[in-house]
Amino acid sequence: MDKLVSLAKRRGFVFQSSEIYGGLGSVWDYGPLGVELKRNVKDRWWRSLVHQRDDVEGLDAAILMHPRVWEASGHVAGFTDPLVDCRTCKSRFRADKLTDARCPQKPSKVPGEHAACDLTEPRQFNLMFKTFMGAMEESASVVYLRPETAQGIYVNYLNVLTSSRQKIPFGIAQIGKAFRNEITPGNFIFRTREFEQMEMQFFVRPGEDMEWFERWREIRLGWHHDLGLAPARLRWHEHGPGELAHYAKAAYDIEYEFPFGWQEIEGIHNRTDFDLSRHQEYSGKKLEYFEQASGERFLPFVVETSAGADRVTLTVLVDAYREEMVDDEMRVVLGFHPRVAPIKAGVLPLTKKDGLPEIATDLYHAIKRHYPAFYDDGGAIGRRYRRQDEVGTPWCFTVDHETLDGRTVTVRHRDSMQQERIGLDHVTTWLAEQLRD
Ligand code: GAP
Repeated sequence: MDKLVSLAKRRGFVFQSSEIYGGLGSVWDYGPLGVELKRNVKDRWWRSLVHQRDDVEGLDAAILMHPRVWEASGHVAGFTDPLVDCRTCKSRFRADKLTDARCPQKPSKVPGEHAACDLTEPRQFNLMFKTFMGAMEESASVVYLRPETAQGIYVNYLNVLTSSRQKIPFGIAQIGKAFRNEITPGNFIFRTREFEQMEMQFFVRPGEDMEWFERWREIRLGWHHDLGLAPARLRWHEHGPGELAHYAKAAYDIEYEFPFGWQEIEGIHNRTDFDLSRHQEYSGKKLEYFEQASGERFLPFVVETSAGADRVTLTVLVDAYREEMVDDEMRVVLGFHPRVAPIKAGVLPLTKKDGLPEIATDLYHAIKRHYPAFYDDGGAIGRRYRRQDEVGTPWCFTVDHETLDGRTVTVRHRDSMQQERIGLDHVTTWLAEQLRD
């Protein structure tokens, strides 16, 4: 992880927030390559759920919502973690995760084990960030930064249903920021206080929920495979009765094997009619669905798929990172699937003379009209290849003296390091073929 974090900073994937002021705890900024990588992850999610399906609509709800939403959802009362403080070292720990923590004064022990530890009784701590709306900082004007995007979907479910003319079963998908005042954030962008979720709520007839739950499990695991993640590093974790969230009847996590262990990257939940019935009760508005074919009215059940955009981006980075010895030299490669690679093509003139830079510049601009590309004429060609390997560029096109005679260029493949020649005028169509789904 240390090597990955350092590469991520050095090559412009992820920076610490407000770094020049010493950073802000577990908040991160995405640099030029990171923003492309994360966008590719989000775009693939949106395409597979919204563009490629007829039964899912998109939504972009506001972060700030009526405070009653969070009472109805159960977050005001129940979105808490149990906390203990140490009176000696003034550190704070999750009472239910003490065995994962280390005593700051004696790191070989867990908090509470060292003779000097003096822990308080556990207290419940709400994870929602609070702020005030309007000019008055008083309890009547409290609003929350949403801790999940799902509620924006539930409160808009009837709007989307009637405006899109969908029928049940159908889904609503949304990508957006969520905020949690996590007690034990960490592992780089794995658990942060500000993050993005990619959530889809699928509304079904009660009784058909478990069948859809199983279908969505299969679809979502398939999506992670299509991102290029190693199947052997993905597995299911079923929530036992003690683990289920307050809204869930059944839940599975998709877990990935990180260097710090198996961890959740996405949750699939059967949320029953919990959220819609609570919003119906708290808002006083009927949220029932009228099914014309049967003449029945019912509150739909909801199957939710919820993935973190940052967490999936981290997964893609971890999965792609490899080091290998080539000719007694270490080669660092981010072996991204070409579909998510931030830069699709490097364009390299072999030398800075004989008209090669002019041809390479034209080629670079031709590629840039379709795909992100990078032009590099600095240093030995081997070094330039390594620089592109390190940021995961799948192909480099080298313009050399043969280009002048036969209008061909060298394509150098990142993973195999093999080279072949293709026509200069066919580079963009060649790229399109490689990147086709
Ligand atoms: N709407 C359901 C929900 O929010 P969750 O299991 O709490 O369920 C879903 O979160 C996903 O959101 C997680 O699988 C993870 O990918 C991401 N996530 C949750 N908390 C996060 C955090 N503090 N930092 C980064 N990602 C987080």
